[in-house]
Amino acid sequence: MKKIALGVCSSISLYKACEIIRLFQEEGFSVRVIMTEKATRFINPYLFTSLTGERTIVHLFDEQQRPIEHISLVDEVSLLLVAPATANIIGKLASGVADDFLSTFYLAVKCPVLIAPAMNEAMFLHPQTQENIRKLKNLGVEFVEPESGYLACGKKGPGRLASPEKIVQKSLRLVRSKEIFKNKVILITAGPTREFLDPVRYLSNPSSGKMGYELAREAYELGAEVILISGPVDLEPPAEVYVEKVITAEEMRQAVLKHYARADVVVMAAAVADFKFSQSLPDKVKKEKIGPSLTIEKTPDILQELGASKSQQLLVGFAAETSQVTDRAFQKMKQKNLDLMVANDVSRPETGFGSDDNEVWLLWPDGRSKKIPRMSKRKISQQIFSEIEVLLNERQRNS
Ligand code: PMT
Repeated sequence: MKKIALGVCSSISLYKACEIIRLFQEEGFSVRVIMTEKATRFINPYLFTSLTGERTIVHLFDEQQRPIEHISLVDEVSLLLVAPATANIIGKLASGVADDFLSTFYLAVKCPVLIAPAMNEAMFLHPQTQENIRKLKNLGVEFVEPESGYLACGKKGPGRLASPEKIVQKSLRLVRSKEIFKNKVILITAGPTREFLDPVRYLSNPSSGKMGYELAREAYELGAEVILISGPVDLEPPAEVYVEKVITAEEMRQAVLKHYARADVVVMAAAVADFKFSQSLPDKVKKEKIGPSLTIEKTPDILQELGASKSQQLLVGFAAETSQVTDRAFQKMKQKNLDLMVANDVSRPETGFGSDDNEVWLLWPDGRSKKIPRMSKRKISQQIFSEIEVLLNERQRNS
């Protein structure tokens, strides 16, 4: 079922519901909005009707509605998301009050329920609100914590509705989680590393981190525990993913090795710099003091080290090539003892480094290969993880 029921309550932040709807639609979900009566004082329900193409529900008793619609809609939705949720609705849901469509619908649904609170900080921190939240959590209701910052009332503190991206990512995890990924630890590397000559000069490459961050998002949505080791990039990490930021190849190596024993799957999408300066100096070096050549040396090959000591881990590598793409990638896969290799041609601007899209070849050690045509890195990540799923299922069957 690709339909979400979105409960919208009377908070200034309800304009963000428009963005939430758009993000769901981009993922192929349709949205049915249920507004509380008070929310209609802020915005006309017709706005959401226009955005979703489905009539917004407000009242429990409405001539235009199907009879007992709060019951018939139950079978159509895979998630009830309440965003923004006020202290009032949280209190009503926690105590089972069913006096309007949204609170009645909550009691009738069997699908997961996710609540994104938004309110004044004193109201959020009030022991009664906290008690209501605890009560709902104990009943299995999930929450997206509000952010701290300036609130509509002029105060500063926790109570600001979480970002639409965060809310939608958590929603998708509830809807898309797969049994095989639950309790799995997936370690993903992303972005470039920088190897410094001095504080202002370094060796690196054009990796933006987009590929690795999309992989981390996908692993999170499929229900795994995700550890993201990230080089220096300008991206917002996916919701609820543990992130460790590193700069150099050696720092990335240390971070990866620290978590390796716990990992079930490792995906090395990072573009680890292959070389570093033999000497790294603490102060900026005068140009005149640098001779005609500088000495460089190889950085540690992290993936090779993982391949040499692997036990339960499923190892997935990336190969960045500019010619003979699959042949070279196949050799790297063998050399590094991998279970799956993702090869991409980084000589083209529309795929590979920095682009929103990629085009890859998947290679397996038994000689099989599969080309995935150009598509967004988000979709490429989904394809990669559906192959990881096959490998994990095979392992489970054989264990
Ligand atoms: O970040 P984006 O802008 O989205 O770009 C995505 C990408 C092009 C960086 C990504 O798709 C990609 O190809 N990542 C791997 C880049 C790379 O380092 O390829 P490689 O062929 O040099 O290395 C092979 C594998 O060994 C890689 O998994 C790499 O992470 C790993 N490696 C490489 C060198 C090294 N010292 N240690 C390593 O672990």
